[in-house]
Amino acid sequence: MNRSIQFTITTLFAITALLSTTLAPSAVAKETLLERGTYLMRSIVACGNCHTPKNMKGQELPGMELAGGFGLVEPMYTWVTANITPDKETGIGNWTDAQIIDAIRNGKRPNGSTIGPPMPIELYRRLSDRDVKAIVAYLRQVKPVKNKVAKSVYKFPLPPNYGATVWSVPEVSRSNPVKYGAYLAGPLGHCILCHTPMVKGRFQFKTHLGSGGLTFYLPFGEVYSANITPDKATGLGNWSDGQIKRAITKGLGKDGKPLFPPMPFPYFANISAADQDALVAYLRSMKPLPTSRKVRFVPKKK
Ligand code: HEC
Ligand code: HEC
Repeated sequence: MNRSIQFTITTLFAITALLSTTLAPSAVAKETLLERGTYLMRSIVACGNCHTPKNMKGQELPGMELAGGFGLVEPMYTWVTANITPDKETGIGNWTDAQIIDAIRNGKRPNGSTIGPPMPIELYRRLSDRDVKAIVAYLRQVKPVKNKVAKSVYKFPLPPNYGATVWSVPEVSRSNPVKYGAYLAGPLGHCILCHTPMVKGRFQFKTHLGSGGLTFYLPFGEVYSANITPDKATGLGNWSDGQIKRAITKGLGKDGKPLFPPMPFPYFANISAADQDALVAYLRSMKPLPTSRKVRFVPKKK
């Protein structure tokens, strides 16, 4: 074979190989629903951070994945998470796929009642059809656990719904990191929910997106979320990409010291490198805002 033809063929092979590794859509298409669901549930989506019961040290109880019963006492409500394992009696084993999707995206149970806070339904409304189906595929194969949990108590009436019923949400392209990062930080990982302050029960998404200061009423005290906008003085403006990724996946602050819960670090440790890059790209694109609250922690008075 002529040398230059040999070269052309080899180069063509190299280019094809390169294309097949960089063209994400083909890789996406090959991923089964259960593979996608497993990745999401064990990393960025982390329903288990709320739905898996924990011991006093905050460690998840073995054999109780998604069996519910974890909760906290807050000024306006005492919440308890539901058992979302496929147990037919105490879990959601009798619900159809469509009913589970309706619960996640519309906050509606099959009996018509509304699912209360702090489940981030406002953001889950924007979960794509494929991703919400992937989450259901994962829920279906979790071990059924018989675990009857207490009911949440809300000191206010729950809304009849969280807006017009969501029927269908298109897939979000992974080709633009800032846009896909916004999808990761929004519907998938609800970063922006935990990191946006609330006034009179309403998240200040329009004016204070990502500026921190949301209160978490933990057993040992009150933790206030950090400012994750690119503000240089109080946000992530002076953090390196590596420091941001380390905070997300290892739960360490800029100075390397451990951060407080409830950010789901053990789950976020499994976020893929590409998704970490997209998250950082999105965080860098946010409008810089000053922090909403300087104090980050107030210990409980004994
Ligand atoms: C921030 C905590 C939190 C997160 C995150 C969360 N949930 Fe929930 N979820 C709750 C609480 C609290 C309830 C019970 C609300 C009530 O009592 O009205 C609930 C209720 C539910 C219900 C209703 C079950 C029933 O029997 O009433 C389903 C289904 C559900 N969650 C699924 C999910 C899935 C799937 C995810 C992840 C995509 C998720 N949740 C993420 C807190 C959370
Ligand atoms: C359940 C709520 C919750 C979720 C979800 C959450 N965070 Fe956090 N995050 C917090 C809290 C609270 C802190 C502050 C902890 C502390 O001060 O020790 C924090 C701290 C941080 C920090 C460290 C900032 C600093 O100044 O120390 C970064 C960076 C961060 N979060 C980014 C994210 C990103 C990106 C996501 C989504 C992938 C995310 N968080 C999801 C609650 C959350």
